[in-house]
Amino acid sequence: MAGVAHTGTGTDWGKAHFEAIYNCPDPRRYYSTLQPLEYQIPQHGQAVFRALADALQCRSGGSAGRPPLRVVDLCCSYGVNAALFNHEVTLDDLYRRYAGTGPDTPGGDRLAKADRAFYAARRRPGAARITGIDAAEHAVGYAVAAGLLDRGFAANLEDEAAAPELCRALDGTELITVTGGVGYITARTFARLFDCFSAPPWVAAFVLRTVSYRPVSTLLARAGLVTERLTTRTFRQRRFADEAERRAAVEALARRGLTVGGKEADGFYHAELYVSRPAADVAALPLAELLPAF
Ligand SMILES: C[S@@+](CC[C@H](N)C(=O)[O-])C[C@H]1O[C@@H](n2cnc3c(N)ncnc32)[C@H](O)[C@@H]1O
Repeated sequence: MAGVAHTGTGTDWGKAHFEAIYNCPDPRRYYSTLQPLEYQIPQHGQAVFRALADALQCRSGGSAGRPPLRVVDLCCSYGVNAALFNHEVTLDDLYRRYAGTGPDTPGGDRLAKADRAFYAARRRPGAARITGIDAAEHAVGYAVAAGLLDRGFAANLEDEAAAPELCRALDGTELITVTGGVGYITARTFARLFDCFSAPPWVAAFVLRTVSYRPVSTLLARAGLVTERLTTRTFRQRRFADEAERRAAVEALARRGLTVGGKEADGFYHAELYVSRPAADVAALPLAELLPAF
């Protein structure tokens, strides 16, 4: 835990501030700050989101001949989930590419241009069409420039309604993905998003155990979605940045009636996976059958 620089005194839900790495011209500081903390939730997301995408595609008769799956990644940052979802890369590959690069390594636009070729060479067949939303405009701009996002929107839906252009881009979404975002975004963001959909998409969210998902799942229920929590396991998110963060997390968990044994006692934040789907989809395929590998 020692030696990792984070950049502030903490959010009101106990997590260290990392704002200084969220909105840079390219992702090098993001990855080089998070690698020592073993940030890993997008790697767990890759396996889960791909399994959900397969199920959605099967439901509509398989991927052959159908238009690309339409995914919205909330709190998309520099496009990490889009990179992992649509390309033959792992999070370790991304850490190798972006963290620990020397001061002479080209950044900004030159890096985005090189990345466009890097990702194009690793594109998976049947890649999804991914729209990213994040409050950090430079991060979103990089992700679009690098070819990771088909559409990117710098928007903070906690503070303002979705612009008409964003709303139009969202309609037809089949899957919403979130890693590392819930807590920063609340039911308010989901309410503003769901105003844009004529048919509600599936929602897959990894949520720290320190944060209640109840307000979001209640909102999603009003939109016609049943939320299930994967009960077989939790997912390590990252190491605590320091002792103050660990203590705040333990206190937040205690307030929620949760203990750390077998979970955060290992020195990591743990996230739970919530999947929200229309009741008919839940009845047709329970979560355990939808995600048998987990
Ligand atoms: C921990 S990072 C997670 C990024 C990425 N999903 C990942 O797992 O690597 C949190 C992200 O939430 C974004 N964010 C914070 N508040 C937000 C808000 N109100 N609306 C949209 N994005 C927000 C930040 O800019 C940052 O990119």
